[in-house]
Amino acid sequence: MPIDLGDRSYDIRIAPGLLGQAQTWAGLPRASTALIVTNDVVAPLYLARLRAQLSGVYARVESLVLPDGEAQKSWDSLDRIIDHLLAATADRKTVLFALGGGVIGDLTGFAAAIYMRGVPFVQVPTTLLAQVDSSVGGKTAINHPRGKNMVGAFYQPVRVVADLDTLDTLPDRELSAGLAEVIKYGPIADAAFLDWIEQNLPALLARDKTALAYAVQRSCEIKAWVVGQDERESGLRAILNFGHTFGHAIETGMGYGNWLHGEAVGCGMVLASDLSARLGLVPTDFVDRMKRLVRAAGLPVVAPALGLDRYLELMQIDKKNEGGDIRFVVIEGLGQAGVRSAPTELVAEVLATHCDPVAGAPAP
Ligand code: NAD
Ligand code: GLY
Repeated sequence: MPIDLGDRSYDIRIAPGLLGQAQTWAGLPRASTALIVTNDVVAPLYLARLRAQLSGVYARVESLVLPDGEAQKSWDSLDRIIDHLLAATADRKTVLFALGGGVIGDLTGFAAAIYMRGVPFVQVPTTLLAQVDSSVGGKTAINHPRGKNMVGAFYQPVRVVADLDTLDTLPDRELSAGLAEVIKYGPIADAAFLDWIEQNLPALLARDKTALAYAVQRSCEIKAWVVGQDERESGLRAILNFGHTFGHAIETGMGYGNWLHGEAVGCGMVLASDLSARLGLVPTDFVDRMKRLVRAAGLPVVAPALGLDRYLELMQIDKKNEGGDIRFVVIEGLGQAGVRSAPTELVAEVLATHCDPVAGAPAP
């Protein structure tokens, strides 16, 4: 499937078995060196397979295995990649391969964006979340202790290779986290897809390959359609952040890695749906529908009790905000989203309704 961005266009390949097929890697930018960046969970599973393929394409295939976890979206890890490239005297044609989930993809993409002012990189997403969202569209970033993804660049990969077989080894909790980003595409862009997800949730949770293939394909189509119109998020692209304003506050407030990104987004979508209802944009039964679906996907629907002031403080640090106003992605009708600010009283009502009554409740 193409993602149409003029001279930055590229192909998203989605199928089982892609990793081990020579044709998957044909036609990539020519270079003498490739660097695969991955982590210590993914490396034992898939590094050898990718290495074997790339050895047929590049004279020198380097690899860098980082520790696992959201905490790796940091200056330190970025520095490790840059240092590895410099130590290997990697030139400006070197191709980087991000083999892993969204953490590896976001970090490696950012390293590719800045090494020698930009080298090509390939996304090889191995989580559902990365296959349906983070590997597509060119948002790269590291986190800051004060806010998610606060340092980064728009930088498109030259190809995305989503091998559905890699999802076989994904822990159940991570599969559910990925489903949050799949669910997101329904209410913001495609009401029929929301119906499809509800009907096919048992198949998705059972990792039925046909269901997963359709979910990844349709998610990438919607994302490609949005990004194709608004690559740098001057407007429309912000709808992809449905559930993320509350979600990022939960992730940052609870400490990176305690709530998974997808878990925070799942719960955040319930809160953002409720805010949409309180703004009079959708009926209240839509909130119940979202809550049922998010819960059925194995995701939390009760937010941590961080307190209104802390939520507001955390949500102040959001790239969508303008002039000090917190802006939320809201549902304006099934399959249609917009970005609005909301009165603090309504935000307080949402939090009072959906937060755990026990302050400091543990992560899911
Ligand atoms: P992740 O990268 O931490 O991966 C989740 C876990 O699964 C990790 O422990 C990882 O090692 C493991 N894993 C990866 N592939 C595996 C496999 N095939 N089998 C077994 N284990 C495997 O998390 P994620 O959910 O993939 O990504 C979350 C990150 O993505 C967050 O930092 C979020 O901010 C970012 N994100 C970015 C965008 C974007 O547009 N750039 C969009 C959404 C999310
Ligand atoms: N995940 C949100 C975006 O890519 O814009």
